[in-house]
Amino acid sequence: MHRVQVVRADITTLEVDAIVNAANERMLGGGGVDGAIHRAAGPRLRDACAQVPEVRPGVRCPTGEARITPGFDLPAGHVIHTVGPVWHGGNADEERLLGRCYSRSLALAVEYGLRSIAFPAISCGVFGYPPDEAANVAMRAIASFLEPGADLERIVLVAFGERAESTLTQALGAFGD
Ligand code: APR
Repeated sequence: MHRVQVVRADITTLEVDAIVNAANERMLGGGGVDGAIHRAAGPRLRDACAQVPEVRPGVRCPTGEARITPGFDLPAGHVIHTVGPVWHGGNADEERLLGRCYSRSLALAVEYGLRSIAFPAISCGVFGYPPDEAANVAMRAIASFLEPGADLERIVLVAFGERAESTLTQALGAFGD
């Protein structure tokens, strides 16, 4: 996992090929990191999201799936929008859906030939996922995605605060190198 690192930052400032957005299924913006990314990317991001076809009324990106758009005014070239599960106590398929957010986002990055990607702590804000459990789900999903030698150079897990930084660092440490 030597290509994986924890960085304390505002994800909108990172110069990576793609930053991942913790979006909702409508994919037209919101609060939290979704709001921050749309503010930093500018109004063209919302226009690009609106072009993403709905798979059913009001749903452009189902939970556990990922969609890619340009980054527009962001330093990152692309935004990969993914929708994490809302935490309902752990017995509503949350772990599998959260893991899919990471693996589907990584698959999109590889499909687009991207070399670096940064993730926020998906579902750990408004959606209420316990950060320590979410960090372990993220590491497991990343580790299993990297096994067959996917050629991503750099995967960044962005901590938006001190506690998040220690939680993510601890989870990464448990996975060794
Ligand atoms: N950079 C990095 N991380 C950030 C930033 C930022 N600028 N802003 C917030 N975060 C962190 C939060 O601290 C949290 O740990 O992102 C994590 C995800 O929190 P939310 O943004 O609330 O996302 P989530 O819990 O997945 O809920 C998604 O919230 O904003 C709406 O439209 C969004 O409906 C969707 C829901």
